[in-house]
Amino acid sequence: MENSITPQRVIVAPKASVLVESLRDIGYSLQTAIADIIDNSITAGAQNIELLTDTDSEIPAIGILDDGQGMSREKLLEAMRPGSISPSNKRPDYDLGRFGLGLKTASFSQCRRLTVLTSHNGITSCAVWDLDVVAEVDDWVVEFPEDYRDIPWAERLGDTGTLVIWQKLDRLIDAKNNDNRKNLVRQIDETATHLELVFHRFLSGETGLKKIRMALNGRDLESYDPFYSKHPATVFGPEDVFRMEGREIRIQPVTLPHHQKVSNAEWKKYAGQEGYIRNQGFYVYRGKRLIIHGTWFNLARQTELTKLARVRIDMPNDMDAEWKIDVKKSSAQPPAPVRERLRRIINVIGAGSTRTYTTRGRKLTSDNRLPVWSRTQDKNRISYGLNPEHPAFRKFAGSLTEEQKAEFSRLLVLAGAAIPIDALFADISSNPEHVSPIAMNTDEFADTVKATYFQLLSAGCERDAIVLMMSSAEPFHSNWKQAETIINALEEGLHPDE
Ligand SMILES: Nc1ncnc2c1ncn2[C@@H]1O[C@H](COP(=O)(O)OP(=O)(O)OP(=O)(O)O)[C@@H](O)[C@H]1O
Ligand SMILES: [Mg+2]
Repeated sequence: MENSITPQRVIVAPKASVLVESLRDIGYSLQTAIADIIDNSITAGAQNIELLTDTDSEIPAIGILDDGQGMSREKLLEAMRPGSISPSNKRPDYDLGRFGLGLKTASFSQCRRLTVLTSHNGITSCAVWDLDVVAEVDDWVVEFPEDYRDIPWAERLGDTGTLVIWQKLDRLIDAKNNDNRKNLVRQIDETATHLELVFHRFLSGETGLKKIRMALNGRDLESYDPFYSKHPATVFGPEDVFRMEGREIRIQPVTLPHHQKVSNAEWKKYAGQEGYIRNQGFYVYRGKRLIIHGTWFNLARQTELTKLARVRIDMPNDMDAEWKIDVKKSSAQPPAPVRERLRRIINVIGAGSTRTYTTRGRKLTSDNRLPVWSRTQDKNRISYGLNPEHPAFRKFAGSLTEEQKAEFSRLLVLAGAAIPIDALFADISSNPEHVSPIAMNTDEFADTVKATYFQLLSAGCERDAIVLMMSSAEPFHSNWKQAETIINALEEGLHPDE
């Protein structure tokens, strides 16, 4: 609008060579950048998405190939424009984009040369942003090459689909340093793991979503469900549906299985790379794509006791302003009314996740008819101690003089008071699966079974009561089959005719 330029209104256009360099630093990692490119493939209806890498050749490259709807030449030109669509435009609910920036900003964050080769209705078009050209010309120049021969993986593009290629990977590879290339291979593997989490609902093809295949250099990625939904010991809390200006937010608390309910491999897998403590919290999905996880949004602390709690939050793609979604789709803040709701849910969850632990604790002592250790709770104080009422202790005490009895009782109190609680807590927090009572060998175990059986028998207990007591107490409970065989053999020896 020429007449809008007056002495009071001057156009101050950005300097292309400078702004384009600044656009590189809005905080993407390789993982978030690739996920942003894949968002576009999913929005374009792709069913197969390939992440392709060439880290060895002279001109290393990373490619993202899809079989989505592709783009016409006009659409491609618009796609290359930084700010192609206004963030305030209404988008269909499956559209994972918002800002009209991701393709450019994600690519520039990792490379200086972005090529987009795309086919739509059998017509192939190609466009290139080369930041060295932008710097040289100092203008927003996009090239449209006609010869596609030098474009890596160009032959793999189908009749419809898009291939995004990054070259001049200055942020990822130092041309002179080979260690650097190895480092890139590791980063790409980590990216694959990230994609398995972020897009897990697409990869598994959950109800209502078209299943998408993703692969890294031909290796299929596997859906990684952070809730381990299919395990029978995963506990789903009630789903809470929150409505805000006609839009729905669905919130569902989940408690992961306790480590004794899963194998060691499963326990490690569902800890995730950062471990259970740091991976507890809200998992926010925008259009079924995970944008943020492992945070309580400052509403609670990540503690050992709540480490199995994860809360799934599903929000639509048209609440980005309210949730303060950023261009990278990797940060979000719940709007005030949702925050209030989350605060309430946290109280319930805190209890939920704690319960998985304390029920085990309670169970061990209350169902246990033969507690060697007793757990006592007095208001907020919980203490553990050796139980002098245990028949083995009682029987032994019975064989002592009054003086020795008093000494023995003092020893029991001393041993109980000296439990190394801090060390135990630290070990259980970091490696619960590695903490276990001292292992007994088969002979020691058999001796302990026999000794306990006879002690209880001579303490006047009935046979059935003995079996009940022993089967619910450690170390017999965890090895009950073995213990039962020993007891049966003992009883046969005692009553050979029965
Ligand atoms: N793989 C693709 N297949 C088809 N069209 C694509 C593809 N990648 C990008 N586009 C087109 O390019 C446009 C610009 O993409 P870009 O990622 O820059 O912005 P966006 O996805 O609209 O929003 P955001 O900045 O939130 O990602 C898209 O809106 C889409 O029309
Ligand atoms: Mg996008």
